Order: sequence, then structure tokens, then C-alpha cells
Amino acid sequence: MYDFDKVIDRRGTTSIKWNDQKSFGQKDGLLPFWIADTDFASVPEILQAVQKRCEHPIIGYSNPTGKEYEAIQGWWERHYQWKPDTSWMLLSYGVVTGIYFTLNVTVPKGEKVLVFTPVYDPFFAAVKNSGHTLVDCPLDYKDNYYTINFERFEEELKNGVKAVVFCNPHNPIGRVWTEEEMKQLVDLCVKYDVYLLSDEIHADFGLTRPYTTAGRFEEIYPKLVVYTAISKTFNMAGFGSSCMIIPNPELKQQISDSYDACWMFGPSDLAFTAIEAAYTYGDKWVEEQKEYLKGNAEIVTAYIAEHMPKVKVTKHEGTFLMWLDMNCYGLTSGEITTILAKEYGLALGDGSHYGKQAEGFMRFNIGCARETLMKGLLQLEKMYEKYVR
Ligand SMILES: Cc1ncc(COP(=O)(O)O)c(C=O)c1O
Repeated sequence: MYDFDKVIDRRGTTSIKWNDQKSFGQKDGLLPFWIADTDFASVPEILQAVQKRCEHPIIGYSNPTGKEYEAIQGWWERHYQWKPDTSWMLLSYGVVTGIYFTLNVTVPKGEKVLVFTPVYDPFFAAVKNSGHTLVDCPLDYKDNYYTINFERFEEELKNGVKAVVFCNPHNPIGRVWTEEEMKQLVDLCVKYDVYLLSDEIHADFGLTRPYTTAGRFEEIYPKLVVYTAISKTFNMAGFGSSCMIIPNPELKQQISDSYDACWMFGPSDLAFTAIEAAYTYGDKWVEEQKEYLKGNAEIVTAYIAEHMPKVKVTKHEGTFLMWLDMNCYGLTSGEITTILAKEYGLALGDGSHYGKQAEGFMRFNIGCARETLMKGLLQLEKMYEKYVR
């Protein structure tokens, strides 16, 4: 058994979450539940492999050995009933970087790219900064649960959308899209000949239902990119590493050329080592992490229902980011963020960043030891006592 209860002191490290709280008007010192890394110690075998690599005194310009790809392939086959060919894989610096480069080569400038909101906000930047027109397709929200409005989606596709940037499991609303929903999504993308950019960075956090990768739908292969990474799964975001899985060889070549044309290096040699070790030795750790997070989500849901009953907790299926509807406060998300930081010493994610209809919501990162989680909940309750009761 791994020890996810262990509280690890990250103050004084380069951690943004703990030591760069300028955006909250603080140098540091807030108990952080915002930016999406966890506070869990990573898989020992990964750290050992990286340390071993450092026994060789030179870390120069490097190419992957190929074993990284095999390890990634094995992981997907073991966990998600999909065996992507190693020749489809392209390692890159980060998932968002990958999305940006994909949009650059797939969709002509000015054309429409659709996202389902509320969604991870760098999607907006990736679409706009690559010169495209953002189409906001709001998810339906009913009884603390989000679904895709497929009629609205189809209307937007008819109106000329060229690509969809999709998130599964979906940050910040915690949905793990079902196989039926994935099929409907893929069918519509195929029908309207639209690219599907499927960000599956939270794949390994399907907590309450089996996760379905877009990679299982061969009909979309001509226009599919799946993005994955060790960063969330193994808490290794600092390695700056991700993998694009691109079944269409021409598309892969185009993305690869565009990446090279910008002299983008990365991930680093150390990341190659980490990837291989993670996907080779990390299975048990990831299973235990999932159980622990499932427990955390249950604690948050029960605690809020009992002590802050007017706060609505979105039904949580996946990711380590919970989505709280705090409209009962009668405050904007920005105001809640400021009050939580100034008066209660907490840093939570301002929900309004994730889409227009997310005002009054907050994102709560539950990737921490129970002791830390409880401290956060107690502070949240204090604010509730003052502002809502
Ligand atoms: C859905 C999603 N995609 C991408 C990222 C960031 O990935 P990267 O650091 O590899 O760009 C995050 C981080 O929070 C995320 O939640």
C-alpha cells in the first residue's frame, strides 16, 4: 500500500501551487486547492529511474529510445482496451502546446473551433492564439450534472465548425463521458468531417465509471488526435512532457513538421526515462491513487451536504478537481476567491475562468492528503457560516 495520507511539505520548492500565490494577492501562505497538480509523492520507481539516469554525467540533446512508446502502448492496452500503434505517437512538451500546434496545421486561420463549456481555460487561449474563432457550446446543467446538448452541437457543426477540442474526463465539471456519448460525438464529427482533438490527460482519473478513449472509434482516425501525459496521472507536471497519438500518418507528419519548424525541443531526456518507468511500474500506484481520490470526493460531497447544504456539489465521476456551485453566496466567483484568500487562508480556482455560465462556481482540487482536505473544508465552512447562514 502506498501512503497517500502522508502530508508532504512543498513550501519553499518551485511549486506554483504552494509558492506562487500572486494571483490571490498573496506571496504565499494560503492552503492551496487551485492549480491542477496533486500533493502526492510520485511512484518510487520513476524517481529511482530518473536518479539512475543522472548517474551518467551528461544530459545532451536526445531522442526517445522507442521504449517510451512501447510503455505507453502497453498502458493503453492494459487499461483502456486500445492498442495504439507506436508509430502514431509523438512526444511533445505539453498537452496545450500539442493542441496549439495541431490547430495550426489542421484548421485554416479564422475558421471555427468548438469547445464545450465550462472547460479548462487554456483551451480558449489555444484556439484564439492560433488565430481561430472560438465557438462556445455550453453543456446542459441540471440536477448538479452536466451533459452535452447534441442538438446544439450539431447546429454548430452545420454552421461550419472545423475542429472540436474535447476534454475527457472533463475538467472542471468532473464528467467521464460514457461510451454512448463518445459514439454520438464521434458520429457527428465524422458526419460533418470535423477534427476531434481529444485531451485525455485526466484519463487515469475515471473514478466512478470506466473511461472510454476516443481512440476506440476507428471511424474518426483520419481526423483524430488523442493527447495524454504522465503529468496528472503520476504527478509529474514539472517534466513538461506529453504524448500525441495520431493514427493518420499524414496528419502526424504535418504536426511533427510544424513542431520542428519552431525548434521546439522536448520533452527532455529525463522525461523519456520518467515516461518509460511510469507506464511500466505505475499500475498499482495509480489504482490506489484512484481509490484514495474517490474517498476524498465522497468526503467532500458528504461534508458539504451536512455542513454547507446550500452549496451544490457537481456529481463527481472523474479528475481530482471538484466543481462547486456556490451561487448561494450571492457573490461572483472572483469575490468568493478573494474572500477565501484574505479571510480564510484558502486558494481555490475561480470558476468564472472556465466559461460564461460558470459564474458563482469554484474549482476545488482534492488531490491532497485527507488531513489537508479536512483543513480546507473547515475553512470553507467558516466562510459559509458568515456569508450564507
Ligand atoms: C484538461 C487539461 N489539459 C491540459 C492540461 C495541462 O497540460 P500540459 O501542462 O501538458 O499542457 C491540464 C492541466 O490542468 C488539464 O486539466
